Amino acid sequence: MNFLEQRIAKDGIVKPGNVLKVDSFLNHQMDIALMEEIGREFHRRFADKPITKVLTIEASGIGIACFAAKEFGVPMVFAKKSKSINIEGEMYIAEVESFTHKNKNQIIVSKKFLSSEDHLLIIDDFLANGCALQGLISIAEAAGATVEGLGIVIEKGFQIGGKVIRNLGYRLESLAIVDAMDPDTGTITFREQ
Ligand code: G4P
Repeated sequence: MNFLEQRIAKDGIVKPGNVLKVDSFLNHQMDIALMEEIGREFHRRFADKPITKVLTIEASGIGIACFAAKEFGVPMVFAKKSKSINIEGEMYIAEVESFTHKNKNQIIVSKKFLSSEDHLLIIDDFLANGCALQGLISIAEAAGATVEGLGIVIEKGFQIGGKVIRNLGYRLESLAIVDAMDPDTGTITFREQ
């Protein structure tokens, strides 16, 4: 097990409905030493890419993306979830549907902060159905930027997101892939990588 899998096995809590709670160290309370290690690991995995910006989505992606951006020495840009639509022209906009929350959000990034010169590393905490990543990819495309890769902290391997993104031809690196979770025993099965 790598450092992240070890931490998930120790402190992750399996909830009914295939939900993995990691809020004691990743997406509510954050273990900063772990965040630093995650940032270094993303840098190691994408060190061959000419990254100019790290792109993520609020809220939980932000902290993680900051640590990755620091390793690359580049800015971090986060997409905002927004209900308003009257800002077209100044903003790149994409629709993102959440299967977990059963709602739709628009996500927006100011045109000031992404351009065709950019080489992006897209980061997020969870990959489930892949809607958030697809929204971020479509914003990158609208800007004419190059998506060099996508880095995920925890991929739920039994949901379709990972397959969808890899089938689109993108380089997707997940630091931990959970293939199965048992809410009765709390057992978490990781994919060998
Ligand atoms: P998708 O983006 O891959 O399509 O995922 P989906 O719509 O299914 O998930 C919606 C939200 O739920 C996402 O956060 C995602 O990170 C989170 N999520 C999905 N599965 C799990 C899980 O097993 N455990 C936890 N803790 N979160 C999960 P969000 O609401 O869009 O963002 P945020 O504001 O929380 O960052």
